[in-house]
Amino acid sequence: MKVLFVCLGNICRSPLAEGVFRHQIAEAGLADQVEVDSAGTAGYHVGDLPDHRSRQTAQAHGITLAHRGRQVKVRDFTDFDYLLAMDQDNLYQLQRMAPGPGERRKVHLFREWDPAGSGEIPDPYYGTRADFEEVFLLCDRAGRGLLAEVQGRLCKKTTT
Ligand code: 4NP
Repeated sequence: MKVLFVCLGNICRSPLAEGVFRHQIAEAGLADQVEVDSAGTAGYHVGDLPDHRSRQTAQAHGITLAHRGRQVKVRDFTDFDYLLAMDQDNLYQLQRMAPGPGERRKVHLFREWDPAGSGEIPDPYYGTRADFEEVFLLCDRAGRGLLAEVQGRLCKKTTT
């Protein structure tokens, strides 16, 4: 199973979502069954480490982010099972890029799995540390919902 988190720059939200979800996957004992990555719809930050505020926020929760920025590519639509957008613009860009209907069905808003809400993970780039903490909280909560979905799919795979 492969999950790709997608935002605009791939330095604030999606690397944080990647780090949080990888941590949750490891805690659930699924590290060898689930691959996690992130990418941006834009190419401004290719090769860059995540924004220092994302790294600090993750580190405060015991998670080290070492991702390097990359842009979404068409190949990602065949490589990954889920392409999860942080906001409506990312969702629109991914839906536009999808090479066919099967691939388009893999594209969702990450917060579809947030049991306490829905909608976007807001862009914190021009915000404060508190906005980054809010992104962490939303990723943590939506990640738990997604973990349950992934566990269900892995279970089906092994029993059918
Ligand atoms: P991200 O945040 O999409 O969560 O990584 C942003 C990062 C960089 C820019 C915008 C949003 N930028 O305009 O460079």
